[in-house]
Amino acid sequence: MKIAVIGTGYVGLVSGVCFSEIGNEVICVDNNPIKVEMLERGEVPIYEPGLDELIIKNKAAGRLSFTFDINSAVQNSDLVLLAVGTPAQPNGEADLRFIKQAAIDIAQAMNGSKIIATKSTVPVGTNELVSGLISSNSIHSFTVASIPEFLREGSAIYDTLNPNRIVIGSNDSETLQILRELHLPLTSNIITTDLRSAEMIKYASNAFLATKISFINEIANICERVGADVTRVAEGMGYDHRIGSSFLQAGIGYGGSCFPKDTNALIQIADNVDYNFKLLKSVVEVNKEQKYIVIRKLQAELGSLFQKKIAIWGLAFKPNTDDIRDAPAIEIIQELINQGAEIQAYDPVATQNFMNEVNNTSIIWCNSAIEAAEKSDAICLLTEWNEFSEVNLEYLGAIMNQRVIIDGRNLLDPTKMKDNLFNYHSIGRPNSILADTLTTQEIS
Ligand code: UDX
Repeated sequence: MKIAVIGTGYVGLVSGVCFSEIGNEVICVDNNPIKVEMLERGEVPIYEPGLDELIIKNKAAGRLSFTFDINSAVQNSDLVLLAVGTPAQPNGEADLRFIKQAAIDIAQAMNGSKIIATKSTVPVGTNELVSGLISSNSIHSFTVASIPEFLREGSAIYDTLNPNRIVIGSNDSETLQILRELHLPLTSNIITTDLRSAEMIKYASNAFLATKISFINEIANICERVGADVTRVAEGMGYDHRIGSSFLQAGIGYGGSCFPKDTNALIQIADNVDYNFKLLKSVVEVNKEQKYIVIRKLQAELGSLFQKKIAIWGLAFKPNTDDIRDAPAIEIIQELINQGAEIQAYDPVATQNFMNEVNNTSIIWCNSAIEAAEKSDAICLLTEWNEFSEVNLEYLGAIMNQRVIIDGRNLLDPTKMKDNLFNYHSIGRPNSILADTLTTQEIS
């Protein structure tokens, strides 16, 4: 199939590359010429394992190209995938500016019948809005569809080429059939439905996963108080297929470009139809509080944090990505600085992005976990990069000022930590220092 993909962000770029990988002819469009030139040279603007090889391979095979020119891309395609950003507005609602503009641009470029399918996460009813904008700006026939994207950063290629399901929404049966055939090489587990249900599936899925995380984080907080181990609790719960074992890893809460934005957007979608989504509001609230547990544990261990040297291990919102959007590290570091702590930070790949975003000259940026830990009074582990579990503990203890580790991701082995004489505290595991001695008001 000939496909134009509008927007080369995470979703657009990965989808475009993967559709070319399974034999389609794909043109990816972006309105940023610098990005287009980079991609044309085979340089990838995001860190995503395996993406650069697939770009180079499919470009060489003549199945993948990048352009600034939306007109030629649309005119040379049967299917146009909309994958532009839907950032959050201050009230949490999704900003549809880019979607609307892209719909008008597509309409004005059209030279014949097309399928326009939205991959961006959009509020229920947006595809009907897109349809209205296209019909008032084009004389050509078209149908619209919603194909929500479920890929995870860090395993985006694998997720796209091996999806656990594909959801296709359209009110046109022929469109459903064509899109079904396009996805059949990826999986036979294809759910076809109406437009509005497809749009809702994406929000409901992300909100449910966020709920699992906030739920297990609250269970972890209770485990600390009753002397249970949340990792064993999650394991025991996960064997029940109705619950499932994934997304039950307790820690300092979810971040990233999707969960925080999509949970708030769904709350707003519900509010707009006079429904108070109480459960999801609590999920968001629990997630906001959870990151401060690291600071409470630090205070309980060190007392005042004024002029204490704190090593930060991990800045990205999760491992295997350089993405720092809504990463817990942003607020945690800010709060530590507010309390007078001195920060020595390290992340294997996300430091540059963090520096651009946070732009704080008092932070010392380090080139390794060991360098960050040097002469520190404590380490806060905020992202579970594998390399942090491979550090030589004897050496680590020798270079630190005080042997304190707050593991916000339950990555390290408590027994090994104890054997190496660390004051080690994680989330919801036995011997974790209780974080409830101070309230959030007191620390902020
Ligand atoms: C998520 C969804 O998984 C994906 O389907 C959707 O398309 C986009 O949003 P992503 O944001 O890439 O993907 O990351 P994910 O791996 O889902 O993790 C999100 C956040 O939740 C991370 O901050 C992670 O650290 C946290 N998390 C995840 C937990 O705290 N505990 C868990 O058990 C799982």
